[in-house]
Amino acid sequence: MKVAIYPGSFDPITKGHLDVIKRTAKLCDELIVAVVYNPNKKSMFDLEERMDMIKNSIEDLDNVKVDSFVGLLTDYVMEKETNIIVKGLRAVTDFEYEFRMALMNKEICKDIETLFMMTSPEYSFISSSMVKEVAMLGGQVDIFVTDYVYEKLIGKIEKGGL
Ligand code: PNS
Repeated sequence: MKVAIYPGSFDPITKGHLDVIKRTAKLCDELIVAVVYNPNKKSMFDLEERMDMIKNSIEDLDNVKVDSFVGLLTDYVMEKETNIIVKGLRAVTDFEYEFRMALMNKEICKDIETLFMMTSPEYSFISSSMVKEVAMLGGQVDIFVTDYVYEKLIGKIEKGGL
């Protein structure tokens, strides 16, 4: 059984993430969307909120699960008894950072392979941080996230944002 791990902050999940999830889910038996819990990193949504928004977005995908992890990604991947990490690549600018991370993870655990899924062109400029910034400044972001996430985003901003 091929289990792949798609790790990230997902603060919040965007249609770009969803595109990677849907396309990757067709290539493996099970895809685990693994939300990082990093107490040192400030996020707009807490872990439960981020996981809830992902669960809502993947309801119709039978082989996709949501989970969370704390600490090293490589430890989590091994705990799940797999060796496949999937990352989305939006543009050349993502590459250097992702390449360094993939090499570091490989250094920590030789067995681990990082596979890169090219984001579809229509989503290639979307990032969670840009969506949050535009939303906080009053711009339209409803086309970048699902309706459910949009409601949560607006709710959060009305309560004072970050
Ligand atoms: O969505 P993001 O913020 O780009 O995701 C980054 C993530 C969660 C994949 C990365 O920060 C990570 O793997 N964190 C876990 C800690 C770890 O293993 N760090 C070493 C990576 S080289």
